[in-house]
Amino acid sequence: MNRFWSHTARELSPYVPGEQPRGANVVKLNTNESPFGPSPLALEAMRAAAADTMRLYPDPEATELREALAAHHGVKPEQVFVGNGSDEVLAHAFVALLKQPKPLLFPDVTYSFYPVWAQLFGLACETVPLDDDMRVRVVDYRREAGSIVIANPNAPTGIALPRAEIARLLDEHPDIPVLIDEAYVDFGGESAIPLIADHANLLVVQTMSKSRALAGLRVGYALGQEGLIEALRRVKDSFNSYPLGRVAQAGAATSVRDEAYFRQSRARVVAGREAMTRELVGLGFIVLPSSANFVFARHPARGGAELAAALRERGVLVRHFNKPRTADYLRITVGTEDDTRRLIAAAADILRRNSAG
Ligand SMILES: Cc1ncc(COP(=O)(O)O)c(C=O)c1O
Repeated sequence: MNRFWSHTARELSPYVPGEQPRGANVVKLNTNESPFGPSPLALEAMRAAAADTMRLYPDPEATELREALAAHHGVKPEQVFVGNGSDEVLAHAFVALLKQPKPLLFPDVTYSFYPVWAQLFGLACETVPLDDDMRVRVVDYRREAGSIVIANPNAPTGIALPRAEIARLLDEHPDIPVLIDEAYVDFGGESAIPLIADHANLLVVQTMSKSRALAGLRVGYALGQEGLIEALRRVKDSFNSYPLGRVAQAGAATSVRDEAYFRQSRARVVAGREAMTRELVGLGFIVLPSSANFVFARHPARGGAELAAALRERGVLVRHFNKPRTADYLRITVGTEDDTRRLIAAAADILRRNSAG
């Protein structure tokens, strides 16, 4: 605290990002990054973009990237909005669409940035509890609302809602904006993108940070009918006209076009998730059914904080959320085969010591 702080700065409870350690020899399973590198073609495009033209501002409309995304997802370029990570896209959507006179609804256990943006931008919000199996139930959203945001698959549970359930949610709330945050959808969820054509209130947000292994580039995007996209552009052009640099636009566009690499690396992550789940279950963990690049797991014999700290001592970083409904759990990102071996060896060692006394 400092006497020069604004009232807004004083009142904030900022989001706490996962640790990015500087040392090399840790197994980093705490921020849902991809264990595999980005498309080699995308890397090549980024190197080529790092040229004399960097003295010029980038295309403020990111036209090539939006065209690539539109072709990939079967929509028009005018239905695509891009930003500096999906975090920025989501933040703009909070201001442009979700801020309504009635409250914004989201699950009680979900991406912890939602309440932070709600506070920053002055949105009234209400949380809707997940059911006892940690699932979103669409019927629970039948109440007075100004807008809705749902992560699908949800984070940190990893549990996905089928597209038919999202369609039901949209049909039950035709007069308010509904945002579906699909940061993890490529790992096994059903995207709501096919519902855009028939639902003027649907905004779908995706990211290149997870399935395209470009967390370091900061590129996210939204798809929706043109009226919603126009609102996002109005906010963006009132904040930062050039959210994506030349290198980011070139790398992201090439990544979107490299379908073969995308499919292959996504399949490896899904196979790694299934293998990691089997190993964890073998150690007695209860693992929620994940459609993401992470699992949410708890062990009946040990608390989440204790397990996370003991794993950390053994050089394995996982994420722990110290809130009432999540305190028992660990969120563990799918790593390489070697990462999983080290995770499982460390967990087995911790549990052995526990049972020894
Ligand atoms: C549910 C969800 N949405 C959005 C994001 C933001 O991703 P990015 O800003 O890297 O696109 C994350 C990141 O972890 C997430 O978990």
